[in-house]
Amino acid sequence: MTLSSLISSVPKAELHLHIEGALEPSLMWSLAAKHNITLPYKNVAQIEAAYQFSNLQSFLDIYYAGASVLLDEDDFFALMWSYLCKCKEENIVHTEIMFDPQTHTERGIGYDIFMPGFLRAIDKARQQWGMSVKLILSFLRHLSEQEAFDTLEQAKPYYRYIDAVGLDSSEKGHPPVKFRRVFAQVRRLGFRIVAHAGEEGPADYIWQAIHTLGVDRIDHGVRCLEDPELVALLKKRQIPLTVCPLSNLKLKVINDMRQHSLFALMDKGLLVTVNSDDPTYFGGYLNRNFEALDAALGMNKNQLQALVINSFKASFLSEDEKTHWI
Ligand code: HPA
Ligand code: ZN
Repeated sequence: MTLSSLISSVPKAELHLHIEGALEPSLMWSLAAKHNITLPYKNVAQIEAAYQFSNLQSFLDIYYAGASVLLDEDDFFALMWSYLCKCKEENIVHTEIMFDPQTHTERGIGYDIFMPGFLRAIDKARQQWGMSVKLILSFLRHLSEQEAFDTLEQAKPYYRYIDAVGLDSSEKGHPPVKFRRVFAQVRRLGFRIVAHAGEEGPADYIWQAIHTLGVDRIDHGVRCLEDPELVALLKKRQIPLTVCPLSNLKLKVINDMRQHSLFALMDKGLLVTVNSDDPTYFGGYLNRNFEALDAALGMNKNQLQALVINSFKASFLSEDEKTHWI
């Protein structure tokens, strides 16, 4: 079997995926038409052509603007369903999906609109395919800690559907310590914790995420390589990194996929996983990320197998559930 067919056929888990980053340009276009919203594009091809980014912020500006077409419960269902259908196609049997409540509540769209839409699609995928799905509520770090507290409070009726709480958006200038108190509350509530750190921000933000927020996983984390002591800690504690190769390329964290540090991180004994982050903005869902690594750096079957095993190991499935896949 070729590596490519192995990549697509092996059952795997995805752990770093923003649902708002899985909005297909064609769905954006049809939702804009449905709601009489004028987009700054003349057609779907123009939307796709606009996805050229110079850094994280240049992407986030377009990503938040794109989410403005999501208005009613059916829109959120369609968004979630579209991604879960891709999971089915790509043999992703377990996925842990981030959503950004504040991207919607700031526009007057409440939890009572987006959560029922998300949950209806997730239920359908569970029932039709036995797919396993967990949800990660993510705070936008460019907003204040008080706004994160408010967002956590508003989520109360949905706590039983949420497995973890995370931190995303503009990293530089918004260190994890800014959210120290709200994550203490998150821990008291019993949620798992993840945080984007060391994508554009320095290795120090990874230290903060570990020591101040008490994270179970680091999203991205590729800049840990700048600090050997940090690498040693990540290795010793086997704190997973959810790495996103195409995202790193599109956001110019690296200039060429041949520079990607994924295998270097693995060789140092770190628990690394491959993920798609915002697949419709970065040029590919999960399998494409594996393909891109293979094309640039070469991947053998053992490396692929290790990465797939890591995807379950690093997940929030129970130890019992993990043994079914590992
Ligand atoms: N980094 C930070 N915030 C994000 C990202 C990311 O890669 N994708 C969506 N929100
Ligand atoms: Zn991300």
